[in-house]
Amino acid sequence: MSTYKDEKRITTHVLQEMKMRGEKISMLTAYDYSMAKIFDAAKIDVLLVGDSASNVMHGHETTLPITLDEMISHASSVIRAVARALVVVDLPFGSYQGNSKEALVSSIRIMKEAEAHAVKLEGGAEVVESVKRILTAGIPVMGHLGLTPQSIYKFGTYEVRAKEEVEAEKLLSDAQLLEEAGCFAIVLEKIPALLAKRVSENIKIPVIGIGAGPFVDGQVLVSHDMLGINKDFSPKFLRRYLNLFDEIKVAVEQYVSDVKSKDFPNEKEQY
Ligand code: KIV
Repeated sequence: MSTYKDEKRITTHVLQEMKMRGEKISMLTAYDYSMAKIFDAAKIDVLLVGDSASNVMHGHETTLPITLDEMISHASSVIRAVARALVVVDLPFGSYQGNSKEALVSSIRIMKEAEAHAVKLEGGAEVVESVKRILTAGIPVMGHLGLTPQSIYKFGTYEVRAKEEVEAEKLLSDAQLLEEAGCFAIVLEKIPALLAKRVSENIKIPVIGIGAGPFVDGQVLVSHDMLGINKDFSPKFLRRYLNLFDEIKVAVEQYVSDVKSKDFPNEKEQY
């Protein structure tokens, strides 16, 4: 495992430099050791231990049920695999909202127990106090605006956010508040591309988009969606690079058939 003395390690400062020289930042979600090892070998810049683990790893309908203990468990598996990427961990629902002291305690647990590099939380003005308090412990914080899945029951749908001027202006001002509070980067989820461009041009910290168009400083996707493990989710913004659901299914069907037909194991596959 490399350390922070190691030049090839991606840090929050490296991301800032990437924005300044116009180099796009690549980010994917990861939840376990084996996948994280592959993504790190492929030179992904940032791995997000997203609370989307609630959906794709635990089978919940929303991101709300996943616990802090579960997030820490995923995060420590990812951290053990990674030599290069910056690992950011989502603060799960209920571990920071409305209570900056709890936000700090939850973040310290993530950094201490999982040995993560940074935390991410959802929201704008309403979480600024928490961002500032987490930063007092020297913990880097990533913001998340636009479609914030932990507020799904407030929004009512997973539709594109901030299409209307009032919400767009609030998002822009929230991004500025998060920057002033000390966030090192912001994720913008499912908002119009031109609004994301405005945000990215108006703040100095990197803006990483998911369904937020090309005019931002980097892109993030949920790995299970881009690899086609989860094939029931096909929003317009998603580019699928593999169809692993079908490929794994074919392989497992072949294995079942080989076992049933007594083709497996053959003479070479035994002692
Ligand atoms: O939890 C997650 O996967 C996320 C991404 C959608 C950015 O927050």
